[in-house]
Amino acid sequence: MRRCCVVLGALLALIAGNAQAQSWPTHPITMVVPFAAGGPTDAIARIVAEQMSKALGQQIIIENELGAGGTTATARVAQAKPDGYTIMMGQMGTHGTAPAVYPKLRYNPVTDFAPIGMAALAPVLIVGRKDLPPKDLKELIAYAKTNAAKLNEAHAGVGSISYTSCTLFNAAMGVKITQVAYRGTGPALNDMLAGQIDLMCDQVVTYVEQVKGGTIKAYAIASNERSPALPNVPTTKEAGLPAFQLIAWNALFAPKGTPSDVITRLNAALDKALDDDNLRKRLGEQGGIVPPKAERSAAWLQVFVKSEVERLTPLLKAAIEAKK
Ligand code: MLT
Repeated sequence: MRRCCVVLGALLALIAGNAQAQSWPTHPITMVVPFAAGGPTDAIARIVAEQMSKALGQQIIIENELGAGGTTATARVAQAKPDGYTIMMGQMGTHGTAPAVYPKLRYNPVTDFAPIGMAALAPVLIVGRKDLPPKDLKELIAYAKTNAAKLNEAHAGVGSISYTSCTLFNAAMGVKITQVAYRGTGPALNDMLAGQIDLMCDQVVTYVEQVKGGTIKAYAIASNERSPALPNVPTTKEAGLPAFQLIAWNALFAPKGTPSDVITRLNAALDKALDDDNLRKRLGEQGGIVPPKAERSAAWLQVFVKSEVERLTPLLKAAIEAKK
């Protein structure tokens, strides 16, 4: 009799869970962005969220939560109620490089999340303030070697993509440049436009318009191929620094324990959004790359995050050592 009640209870809980997942989403979903508004992660999140909300028939609200290179918000999402109403735009910093630089990181990027899917790739762009003397990357490397003490470079906090990019860039050049931490590269770009920041290395999204307008200088893009959004900007290989190659990525995650059918629906909405012509145009104009179909599943992302942590940890640690 007792065993029968336990089985019945489990069955009722399963039915209730399924019914809840079927009716989901009944109210707006929050997409946490772990950096300031106006930066690449925020821009990508807003483009993707707008299109996904159409597919889901429910509003997606962007919530920027700042601090500690994106890890404050990421730790919060890892602990959030796994009901499908809190998701986040994670990226190569929060889910790839943070473990290398935070020994007491309050989350595990591989085991504390339910991956939803890859949202956008973006090669890293090296930019400088418009009146920085070097005209091209070769001149910049020579200039940095003799003027390193006078230069500064901004990033979005230790562990972020821009932090890793600057650190790898400096190691590739063999220089030590003073780094200035912001809570997102949107505000850092504003300070570069005001002439207070000399250099930045960050995912290309949000820099294209300023480069085209001549308000900042682009030295090179750290990928194998030129970006169609900035066809006149050479690759690092063409410009003389082939050792510096970095394609950043941005992906959606939910807290671990989010029902699998909710993840399936979020993934389907993301997939549909990424096939939308308007989204592809908006992302492409900013240098963002839509992930290929084969790299959009939750299972693919799960494996990828683990391999990225394994690939990036020794790379970043070695570059930090080289800086000392
Ligand atoms: C990063 O450096 O990780 C991001 O590009 C920062 C941001 O999106 O503001």
